[in-house]
Amino acid sequence: METFLNAENGPIWAAPMVRGSELAFRMYLRKYHFQICYTPMIKSELIVLGKNKMELKLLQTCEGDTPLVAQLSGRDPETLYQAAKIVIASFGDNLSAIDLNLGCPQECAKKGKYGAFLLDEPMQTFHCIQALCKASVENVNLNTNKKKIPIFCKIRIANTVEETLKYAKVIENAGAQLLAVHCRIRQSKHDGLPNYSYAKALVNNLKIPIVVNGNVNDVKQAKQIIDAVGCLATMSATAILRNPQLLHHNIDNTIGSIPLPSSLANEYINFAIKYPPPDPLYIRKHFRWIFRNELEPKKPLITDEDWQNATNDVKNGWRVKLWTFLVRPYLKSLKQFRNVCKLYDVNSEGNLNRNIKYYVKFCDKNKVIEEEFIQPTFKSIRKGM
Ligand SMILES: Cc1cc2nc3c(=O)[nH]c(=O)nc-3n(C[C@H](O)[C@H](O)[C@H](O)COP(=O)(O)O)c2cc1C
Repeated sequence: METFLNAENGPIWAAPMVRGSELAFRMYLRKYHFQICYTPMIKSELIVLGKNKMELKLLQTCEGDTPLVAQLSGRDPETLYQAAKIVIASFGDNLSAIDLNLGCPQECAKKGKYGAFLLDEPMQTFHCIQALCKASVENVNLNTNKKKIPIFCKIRIANTVEETLKYAKVIENAGAQLLAVHCRIRQSKHDGLPNYSYAKALVNNLKIPIVVNGNVNDVKQAKQIIDAVGCLATMSATAILRNPQLLHHNIDNTIGSIPLPSSLANEYINFAIKYPPPDPLYIRKHFRWIFRNELEPKKPLITDEDWQNATNDVKNGWRVKLWTFLVRPYLKSLKQFRNVCKLYDVNSEGNLNRNIKYYVKFCDKNKVIEEEFIQPTFKSIRKGM
């Protein structure tokens, strides 16, 4: 196996995430001990056409953004071959592997017959992987000192273990060198508990390493899965979107207190300043993930009518207001996002609606300068003040 997999890469890898694993977020994760990070799914046909600015921005990288796995989607072997070449050239020495997305269950994948829908077309899958392998081999031949870029695949489990194994064998025979498996079926999307027994069957029947994905929430759980399944590592998505410092707080079981969401979000902004995301939508998405546990109304297990009555107070409260505020398209500037964090801090300390004036003191040489800072409100943030 390629050298980067022999190193100690940690029990949890950072999964590919559309509008989630862009450069700023990867660098955030890397600061907090994540090693192997995937890019979001990059649509092969869009980067080959070269006209979609948002998609091309996904090719951004920087010093230290390694080991990096670039994930491609698509179903046409020739387009994937061209896209692999673009990815190899763009990510340069940071690139450790190229992954083919065989797990996307979304409507766009259904329409385009890629992602998890390639499960129905094993021969097409085979040709796609071979095309990626071809691009990788040509890269070595063209540049004698260039490393061979291994090809990975990420799948979902099929309806039965037998079907899953059959498909995985096609993937292995086509030349893939690692298989990440999201242990939920295509129809489950992100819901329900994953079935790790499918991953164990893959470990027992395939030669290539297996990485297990689905509902991995902390290091302890990741190590239990690795022990039980015998896989190389686990991979996490939603848990790290909620807490990008997850590894920092529970590596080797030294669990410290989880930082406030405003602190997690403020640190994301620091990375967004240094590595601007393709669009402010990314920041809004990250804020929703980070603040979700604190702000999203939790529906109790009672009737809809009870829910209406019981939550009328909550619905009018600042938490729900802030939760819905976070999707507003006029939230664009980093200053607005910083003020969202302040608004959260002030409100969660119980200072709501008191319009408190803060005096920020700081020293400039020997002079003490006093600056007035008025508590941000929803209105002032909307106006960008
Ligand atoms: C916001 C979001 C974006 C995702 N984007 C991708 C993607 O681009 N490629 C992919 O293979 N899977 C994608 N996934 C699926 C995750 O990589 C992962 O397989 C899934 O969320 C299960 O892991 P979890 O239970 O840890 O969340 C995405 C998931 C989320 C929540």
